Amino acid sequence: MFAVYAESFDADEPLNALATGERPEPEVPDGWTVVDVKAASLNHHDVWSLRGVGLKEEQLPMILGGDAAGIDQDGNEVVVHSVISDPFWMGDETLDPGRSLLSERYPGTFAERVAVPRRNLLPKPAGISFTDAACLPTAWLTAYRMLFTQAQVAPGQTVLVQGAGGGVATALITLAAAAGVQVWVTSRDPDKAERTRSLGAADVFETGARLPGRVDAVMETVGAATWKHSLRSLRPGGVVVASGATSGWAAETELNRVFFLQLRILGSTMGTREELRRLLAFCEHTGVRPVVDRTLPLAEARDGFAAMTEGDVFGKIVLML
Ligand SMILES: NC(=O)c1ccc[n+]([C@@H]2O[C@H](COP(=O)([O-])OP(=O)(O)OC[C@H]3O[C@@H](n4cnc5c(N)ncnc54)[C@H](OP(=O)(O)O)[C@@H]3O)[C@@H](O)[C@H]2O)c1
Repeated sequence: MFAVYAESFDADEPLNALATGERPEPEVPDGWTVVDVKAASLNHHDVWSLRGVGLKEEQLPMILGGDAAGIDQDGNEVVVHSVISDPFWMGDETLDPGRSLLSERYPGTFAERVAVPRRNLLPKPAGISFTDAACLPTAWLTAYRMLFTQAQVAPGQTVLVQGAGGGVATALITLAAAAGVQVWVTSRDPDKAERTRSLGAADVFETGARLPGRVDAVMETVGAATWKHSLRSLRPGGVVVASGATSGWAAETELNRVFFLQLRILGSTMGTREELRRLLAFCEHTGVRPVVDRTLPLAEARDGFAAMTEGDVFGKIVLML
């Protein structure tokens, strides 16, 4: 079958590690099934994989991709939950110490077919297209958990989203605004910042700019470039939720600020199957849909990877089959 995969690693030029071509059909362990992929969306995770983050040399070649919507072997339209936990794990799948995401231990979704545990399939609501559904299982699920499970944002609160154009950032802005939260956004790019107003952002700022007031919660995926600003933007007792560090993993933390203002710093990764079910319902009932930057045929995935590594994206890039 045709697939898009990592054939090597290149920390500096990730596109050098990308390959497209024929790969063997997926193996199907007991309790797993095969999904015919209709749409799969690109995440920064796929770029990290090409850089050699989270994968070992002996796992190559590895089919990339965590997100997919498609058709199962019984003809049902399904969305794939990408968090693969131990079959006997009970409760929050993201807390299973042995869990992996598709494309980390098992081949990913950038292929004609992908094998997944049966329990990882959720019905795709008829009103949500394959393209939109393929955006939900990673970036949008991560944003959902950051806002509603970790920060427990409430209508009337103010949330700062660091970054405007990213898959997670556009999801955070859209979901928070739809939930009645006042959303402030920072971006390196004034045009991208302005575009977030159409997603519901109440106000936009340059990265690092002084804000008109302190916020209840900050959503962090940028990392080193914005971390200090995130902590300085919080009201006493506020919370910063971090799920990524695109610009760097090591950042200075003013501990006096953390204890004196009783700030909370929470990590967040992906979301549970139940959270994905709730996110699908949220989208179905509110009419909220993912921001799609562009769709590309799977064979042209390289163009999507190039746009993502250059930061030339507003929303999700979806690969179509
Ligand atoms: N923990 C998890 O489960 C999880 C899940 C999904 C994603 N992540 C991580 O979250 C991060 C974002 O993922 P994504 O898929 O949304 O990636 P993406 O689409 O490539 O978005 C990158 C974002 O980072 C911002 N950014 C990048 N460099 C910046 C800098 N130097 N200064 C300020 N802003 C900068 C961009 O803002 P502008 O374009 O507005 O400048 C954009 O919003 C990645 O590191 C990813 O690995 C983690």
